[in-house]
Amino acid sequence: MTGIAKPPIKPARPFFSSGPCAKPPGWSPDWLTGAVTGRSHRSDVGKQALGDLIGALKRLLQLPPDYQLAIVPGSDTGAFEMAMWSLIGARGVDVFAWDVFGRLWVRDVVEELGLRDCSIHDAPFGHLPGFAKADFDRDIVFTANGTTSGVRVPDLDWIADDRRGLTLCDATSAVLAQDLDWSKLDVVTFSWQKCLGSEAAHGVLILSPRAVERAVSFEPPWPVPKLFRFARNGTLDDGLFTGQTINTPSMLCVEDCARAVAWADASGGLHGLQARAERNAAIIWDFMARSDWARDPAADPATRSLTSVVIGIADGNFERLDEAGQRRFVSDMAALLEREGAAFDIAGHRGAPPGLRIWTGPTVEAEDLSALLPWLDWAYKTVRAGSL
Ligand SMILES: Cc1ncc(COP(=O)(O)O)c(C=O)c1O
Repeated sequence: MTGIAKPPIKPARPFFSSGPCAKPPGWSPDWLTGAVTGRSHRSDVGKQALGDLIGALKRLLQLPPDYQLAIVPGSDTGAFEMAMWSLIGARGVDVFAWDVFGRLWVRDVVEELGLRDCSIHDAPFGHLPGFAKADFDRDIVFTANGTTSGVRVPDLDWIADDRRGLTLCDATSAVLAQDLDWSKLDVVTFSWQKCLGSEAAHGVLILSPRAVERAVSFEPPWPVPKLFRFARNGTLDDGLFTGQTINTPSMLCVEDCARAVAWADASGGLHGLQARAERNAAIIWDFMARSDWARDPAADPATRSLTSVVIGIADGNFERLDEAGQRRFVSDMAALLEREGAAFDIAGHRGAPPGLRIWTGPTVEAEDLSALLPWLDWAYKTVRAGSL
């Protein structure tokens, strides 16, 4: 088929998708033996399993004791929209966006909620917007890691300690991979299929005491569906934050996440997971630094993502292609690697500039990323030679 020699070794676990992400190393369906299934989530054992997972996640995340955590419907999107629908509107809002997901939150604020007093701070792919423009009398909406752009917020020092508005952070592909200074964050959401590799379905909603205060003192001017409500008539839904979920959760997903948290605890906890992501991301960064075709699209190396590393293609022939041609080139590379069983799901997001995207979160093994590198070169050369 091609004259370009294939590398001798393949990644043992070629799972580099940015979500759902690789399961924890060693995972098998046997991990779910004994899971609370076929039982009501309102039974004692069901509530216990949900409550235990809430406690385990709080511990793993090292949440301050006065922060609340709930398991909610609709994955990260559900959790983040729940927070926006319930909490914003009390003040003006500054929204910061630089990737596909951040721009979805802009659309929610502007078009769905129709908020008049909002300032949008957008940056092109590869860049971060100017956080110095944040006005902390207002609410701040932002994404910790732009999964589709490969650019993250490296620290939260820009957030004022004496802010009057709330900070709402979509941290789905950052949480557990990089430090999050909880004192700077009032609302944080994530979905556990990312850095924990757990079965997808549910979102996690975290509230600071100030966010709780807003929830019980503010009635939004728009309708809030039952699914999005975590406070009513001036009272927080305490049950939700101890395991009485709003609607029926998947106990299989809940139990799978509990097993992943146990794996995380045994892998050094929060700092162990962060170290795994840092080591993994550096493997791809080093590859790009050495490569004559793979380009790092992040404008500032300090802002490179630790989980969703994006690879651009720097090659005159590629750059002369129109966008459709570039997308075809990239999807041919991804298809070739998939066919070989060397890498699954690594074409970049369809809403981002054409490129590859490799998930380097904590559940990925460094050896698999190292084994992937020669395959990336092979796929690039094969597609460029037109010898598919
Ligand atoms: C930054 C960000 N926000 C939101 C989402 C949507 O997450 P979910 O599918 O868990 O709702 C994603 C998914 O990749 C994401 O990367």
